[in-house]
This record gives sequence, C-alpha cells and structure tokens, in this order.
Amino acid sequence: MENQWNEMYCLAKQWAKEAAERIKETFSEELQIQSKTSRKDIVTNVDKEIEQFFSRKLNETFPEHKMLGEEGIGHDLIDQKGIVWIIDPIDGTLNFVHQKRNFAISIGIYEDGIAKIGIIYDVMLDEMYHAMEGQGAFLNEQKLKKLQEIDIEESIIAMNTTWLLPNKLLPYEKAVSLVKSARGTRSFGSAAIEIASVAAGRVDAYMAVSLAPWDIAGGAVIIKEVGGLFTTIDGKILAGTESKTSLLVAKPGLHKQIIKTIKNP
Ligand code: 2AM
Ligand code: CA
Repeated sequence: MENQWNEMYCLAKQWAKEAAERIKETFSEELQIQSKTSRKDIVTNVDKEIEQFFSRKLNETFPEHKMLGEEGIGHDLIDQKGIVWIIDPIDGTLNFVHQKRNFAISIGIYEDGIAKIGIIYDVMLDEMYHAMEGQGAFLNEQKLKKLQEIDIEESIIAMNTTWLLPNKLLPYEKAVSLVKSARGTRSFGSAAIEIASVAAGRVDAYMAVSLAPWDIAGGAVIIKEVGGLFTTIDGKILAGTESKTSLLVAKPGLHKQIIKTIKNP
C-alpha cells in the first residue's frame, strides 16, 4: 500500500511536468476563451485539454481512483470515499491568458476525505511545491523549513482587492485595519501559488473570500507539513475539499493575530 502512495506521488509530479510542457506549447497557438459565471471567471481550451490529460492518465493507471477537476470532471461526485484526486489544470487562468505567467497546476490527493499528497507546480518558474503526509514539504529538491512565528507588524499578507467589496466575512473597516497593521500586502492572482508562497516563507499569510476545492486541495498537506494553519477566515480547520469557502493560511502566531484583528480592530 505504501508503495502505491509513493508511486502516486512520483506520477503526480511527472504528470504535472508533462502537462506544463503542453501548456507552454500552446503559447504559439490560438487560445479559445469562454466566460463561465461572469466575464471575470473564464476558461480556455487549454484548461479543458489539461484536465482531460489528467483524467486519461488516471483512467489508464488507477482506474479505481476518482477525480474532481475544476472544468467539470467529477462534479457529480457524491462522496469523498476512497482515493480522490482534486485537480486544477490551471490555477490562475486570468494570469495564464493575460500574463503568460503566475499560474499553477494544483493536485491534492485525498483518501476518505483526508489530504495525503499535495502538488503545486508553478509552470513558468519551474517550481514544484510538493508534500506527502508525514514526510515534510519540498520546493523542487529542497526541503522547506518549519514556519517561524512573526508579528503582524512585520508580516506580508497576500490578499486581493475582493476584500474591499461588500462581503459578509469581513467589514471594510476591518480589512483596512488589517492592511494598516501588516508591513505590506501582495496579490498574485493564483490561490495555489499564494498558498505555496506561505509554505516557502515568501509571504506570511494568505486570505481569500470564496474558493473551491480545486483552488486549495493541493496546498493542504504542504501547509500542514511546514506547521502552518489552513482554516476559514474565522479559524475553522479546513480539509481542502470544501466548496465556496473562505481561506486563511498563515504562520501559527500570525494566524491568531489576524483573527484577533478581524474580531477586534
Ligand atoms: P482559477 O484561475 O483556477 O479560476 C484568483 O484570485 C484565484 O481565485 C485563482 O486561484 C482563481 O482560480 C480563483 N477563482 C477565480 N474565480 C473563482 C470562483 N468563481 N470560485 C472560486 N475560485 C475562483
Ligand atoms: Ca482553474
């Protein structure tokens, strides 16, 4: 059984690299862009092709495993029993279309709803963040250090301007107070890369309003392995399989300070 997990870990990384090569090839082809729920929520033929690539690989290699992908595969899944691969073929599609960088392939592998393997591959930087439960997290071949505590005054928080729009989670004044307290804020436009950046210590926290399982599943084990917290904005622990969830990923002490600032500005 352990062998099968090692094989899955290896293959997930290998398939992500193969998919990335294909994504880069498409830069010289005509992109077909469609909007989904709004003009801000788009999908391309490449997102769909890459999702199909993973589905084909899984059917050939592990036909008994299930898959949940952003672009439709597995949206009829009724439970999380067994082994489920949660895949975002391109996280940061707007970046893919507009910037041709700052997008990632995200893969979370779950057993009975528990995160076991996480892969986040920043395609253009060739940076593979990866972790298997209990074995530490890595950036390419380098083992990532456990996260050190930091005060909010010295922290960089990744968040996007969605927090300035009316939302039920965080009133505008509290968002302002948080931005004032931090040393700086950043917004990368790919939840997976922002989560991975917390694991690598490049930012100290990441917070998002409403994410889907494919945006976050790849990051769950990676964050756990470096001792970070992976919760909703009000501190409830997330498995990474939740839908339309807020997200707060942070170094342990900072996590408490952010929640305190939100509750008592
Ligand atoms: P995507 O590019 O795979 O759609 C942008 O801040 C981040 O939010 C990206 O990771 C993006 O993922 C995600 N995102 C964009 N629209 C979303 C939606 N309607 N629901 C959930 N996540 C979304
Ligand atoms: Ca996507």
